[in-house]
Amino acid sequence: MRKPLIAGNWKMFKDNDQALELVRELAPLVEALEDVEVAVCPPFTTLADVSRLIAELGAPIGLGAQDVYPEREGAFTGEISPPMLKALGVDYVIAGHSERREIIGERDEFVAAKVRAVLDAGMTPILCVGETLEEREAGKASAKVEGQLRVDMAVVEAGEIPGMVIAYEPIWAIGTGKTATADDAQEMNSFIRRWLAGAYGEDAASSVRVLYGGSVKPDNASELMAMEDIDGALVGGASLKAADFAAIAKFKA
Ligand code: PGA
Repeated sequence: MRKPLIAGNWKMFKDNDQALELVRELAPLVEALEDVEVAVCPPFTTLADVSRLIAELGAPIGLGAQDVYPEREGAFTGEISPPMLKALGVDYVIAGHSERREIIGERDEFVAAKVRAVLDAGMTPILCVGETLEEREAGKASAKVEGQLRVDMAVVEAGEIPGMVIAYEPIWAIGTGKTATADDAQEMNSFIRRWLAGAYGEDAASSVRVLYGGSVKPDNASELMAMEDIDGALVGGASLKAADFAAIAKFKA
């Protein structure tokens, strides 16, 4: 059975003190939630302290990073390596978020290298895929997603699939208040799972968690999270408020 995952992507919000405060607020709200994994992905600058605080509180909160550089070490000014994250107790690493693809210009080959490097370091990649509004309106949404999966996962073996998380995040729904309908999200998540089944076999496909992300809020989460192929959410804006984030997690608990 797939254990649902509700992951909060804090993006470039929260300094160290604010991050610790948010974790302190969140911990009691998710303490009693069973059958769902909750994780937060704070900025790099706060990971060490957040990791220590989670351990100190004994809180059932997983730790994720928002990005990584796909080399173990070296002359890569400003970058952070997978082993550095692993050493801090990081469990999840987001790879290929649309903001990095669209704003920073990251290409699929680079995302693939990140996925590989995260797996090699013994962490779980959260690979983000999704189409623009233009692509959706042109009927090319699934072709875009398939193209991303094909390249981003070219370096992954079937046996590693259960150790991955995929997040379908339509770009037009991120931070816009526009959510995909539950049916549209289910349709794409199921498409992703069928694609995985074709590429890696049924067992691998049925074990991988496929999340939905894009303006998930407490008031739309119930419908989205009830869908068969939606195994949780990658939450941006609403993850910055402990009560909202915990309320979303409850729909999968
Ligand atoms: P949002 O962000 O919930 O603010 O739309 C989601 C994401 O970018 O992962």
